[in-house]
Amino acid sequence: MKHIFQQGNDATKPTFLLLHGTGGTEQDLLPLAEAIDKDASVLSVRGSVSENGMPRFFKRLAEGIFDEEDLIKRTKELYEFLNEAAEQYDFDRNNIVAIGYSNGANIAGSLLFHYEDALKGAILHHPMVPRRGIELPDLSGKRIFIGAGTNDPICSPQESEDLKTLLENADANVELHWENRGHQLTPSEVQAAAQWYRS
Ligand code: MLT
Repeated sequence: MKHIFQQGNDATKPTFLLLHGTGGTEQDLLPLAEAIDKDASVLSVRGSVSENGMPRFFKRLAEGIFDEEDLIKRTKELYEFLNEAAEQYDFDRNNIVAIGYSNGANIAGSLLFHYEDALKGAILHHPMVPRRGIELPDLSGKRIFIGAGTNDPICSPQESEDLKTLLENADANVELHWENRGHQLTPSEVQAAAQWYRS
């Protein structure tokens, strides 16, 4: 997968897996990693699906309606890429924290929904529930931050609450942070994520 790897200054820190939104690139979220922990390593990946030229991490049938078969396939592809990248760049495979926005948050959520050992934690900005009606792996010990908007037209407040409940039912530790905004990622949401990470 097309990506950027930046070695951090401190090997005990996590490697941030950066996952952009629809139409983004691997450059987009680099400032977020810097704001959250400038000493962490960074693996920033470009989605390998193109929707009319816009990079995404999996196909969709319509706005908010996912192509489940492709979602499962692309989730596995990303999971395997993480295993390979950890070997290639010699970072701790068990210490990856995803930072994703929108479509990127959705594939990060899908990693958590399908694999017990994909991520140590995740910062999910405006995620949806990636799949419904499946049994999640044991997510005990995982810490997850969800940033949501009370007026988000793409993920409703109920969707954010549902995601929190599903992750908590799998024993993850989840913080749901609300902004009185829409789908956009605001500086105050990034600040809240940084504060959560430090605590
Ligand atoms: C998705 O397709 O992942 C969501 O609808 C969010 C987005 O617009 O990318």
